Amino acid sequence: MEPMGIGKLSFEELGGRPVLEKVAKVFYDKVYEHPWIGQFFKEVDQEVIESQQVDFMSAALGGPRVYLGKLPVPAHKHMLLNDEIFDLRESLLKQAMDEVSVLPELRERRLTIDEAFRKKLVKKDISECEKRYKTDEFMDFPNPNPTKKAA
Ligand code: HEM
Repeated sequence: MEPMGIGKLSFEELGGRPVLEKVAKVFYDKVYEHPWIGQFFKEVDQEVIESQQVDFMSAALGGPRVYLGKLPVPAHKHMLLNDEIFDLRESLLKQAMDEVSVLPELRERRLTIDEAFRKKLVKKDISECEKRYKTDEFMDFPNPNPTKKAA
């Protein structure tokens, strides 16, 4: 597997910032509408999270290093995330990239980057969650429709 940020095509050849913005918009529209994963985003401004994702991916794909937000592990330490919700997120991301018709190299590299965080973000139970600040509350939302495949 290639290291992050290295591939055949340059960041600009992959579509640069404009293609990342299109993917982020379509992806977060799906995330915010979804009855399960959408619950995690109730207090989060969609425009802010979209621009954070674009900045983060710009750096991870070898483009400008403009990201100033928290690193993924500290940003998610209060969220109880399991493999099922991680898979759901991945499926929404794939749908978004297919709708935007990104280049196959961008699709593969993006999925590899996100997948690299699975082990770091998925937790077994609430005891593995940590507050970001004293009055923080853990985010623990079970699948509201467990008989149905979430995606
Ligand atoms: C099921 C999986 C995931 C869920 C439910 C989720 C949810 C969220 C939510 C709700 C936020 C907003 C946090 C806040 O503003 O308080 C956030 C931020 C963020 N997420 Fe995720 N996320 C997931 C996976 C990932 C993955 C795989 C990555 C990395 C590739 C990632 C990268 C980020 C980044 C960079 C931020 C911005 C952090 C900040 O500036 O505070 N997330 N995520």
